[in-house]
Amino acid sequence: MKNILLCITGGIAVYKSVTLARNFIKLGHNVRVVMTKSAEEFMGVKTFEAITNHPVLTDSTSPYPISHIDYAKWADICIIAPATANTIGKINAGIADNELTSTILALQCQVVIAPAMNINMYKNITVQNNLSQLQAKGYLILESPAGELACQDNAEAGRMQEPDIIIEEVLSILNKSDSADMLKGLKILVTAGGTREYIDPVRYITNCSSGKMGYAIAEESQKMGANVTLVSGITHIKHNINNFYEAETSKDMFHIISSSMYDYDIIIMAAAVSDYRPKEFSQQKIKKHKDTFTIDLVKTIDILSYLGHNKRHNQVVIGFAAETDNLAMYAEKKLIDKKADMIAGNDISREDIGFNSDDNDMLLLFSNGNKINTGKLPKHEIAKVILKESFKLYQSKAKVL
Ligand code: CTP
Repeated sequence: MKNILLCITGGIAVYKSVTLARNFIKLGHNVRVVMTKSAEEFMGVKTFEAITNHPVLTDSTSPYPISHIDYAKWADICIIAPATANTIGKINAGIADNELTSTILALQCQVVIAPAMNINMYKNITVQNNLSQLQAKGYLILESPAGELACQDNAEAGRMQEPDIIIEEVLSILNKSDSADMLKGLKILVTAGGTREYIDPVRYITNCSSGKMGYAIAEESQKMGANVTLVSGITHIKHNINNFYEAETSKDMFHIISSSMYDYDIIIMAAAVSDYRPKEFSQQKIKKHKDTFTIDLVKTIDILSYLGHNKRHNQVVIGFAAETDNLAMYAEKKLIDKKADMIAGNDISREDIGFNSDDNDMLLLFSNGNKINTGKLPKHEIAKVILKESFKLYQSKAKVL
């Protein structure tokens, strides 16, 4: 079940939008509608409210306090159908002078545009330039077929694409974003497990990380078609990741990652890297001469922070935050301080999730202020959510280029 945002602008083809909304709902998806004032002149909001069972967002009715942001966050995909020359021009220019264009400006998902207008308007060089520029920005522009127009018996183009074809296109995009090859062509680096910081040849400082979350992310990203590299502290987890490096200490991990960080599109730091290491390493095993024993510790390099501050503009860097208290506050601080694009935080004081468990329940915080609660899920399912969100971040960075 997906969240489909249907944006309707003014044109006789609005009657086809009714079929679109109905058929998406019949297929089991959620549909919400945004309409311009001129769309309302062709069809009343009540028709769409009855079909979608949800209030329609218009310039005069706002279901939520900041509806255009709520609708934009909610959407998995947006379809503008029919899309007039006026709205197409506004979107390309970044104009947000009504609820519909404001919503579109706030979207982070794929937008599909089904143009519908008079043939001369459609052929107009400015409209054509707007469409090609939007396409270059990542919008999917549907073909406008030949046929009867409101103003003319027959024209070579200008009609809104038929609902069946729009649905087919939209479903294929949605399937792709869920499917095995979502991450095809992308290089992803995942770290996992805890590091060991040696005191002497037989003793070290470490932490409780099992590595399960990082391994789940590496495996799921490989299934989704990514070229994955897993850099892991010592664990006993079996895996089938081709590019695998073991990094025993935080220093080892830093060297492996920093020497190749620019090779990757997405870097996910799920490892529990030790924050401190012994200042001195004793080559000989330390004997228990004394009743008390003190070790001086020094800070290790913060790898995530290094990556966040040195990343390329189109690289996505994701961090983790395992907290016993004030999860949201600490996770947000890490997001900002380490310049990550997303932080996946969890409450390790809960016994049913966390280190050794097969489940997790994560709060995902994004640098644009968005938040997602995954709810309690198996770690492999959480991994899929994290990867899907990482991919969206990657796509939105690629779009800005
Ligand atoms: N991290 C890192 N290098 C370190 C320490 C942490 O790259 N030396 C990364 C972890 O991989 C994780 C994130 O930073 O993605 C947060 O780690 P965490 O241990 O929760 O936070 P710290 O920054 O170490 O802060 P604190 O221990 O005080 O909570």
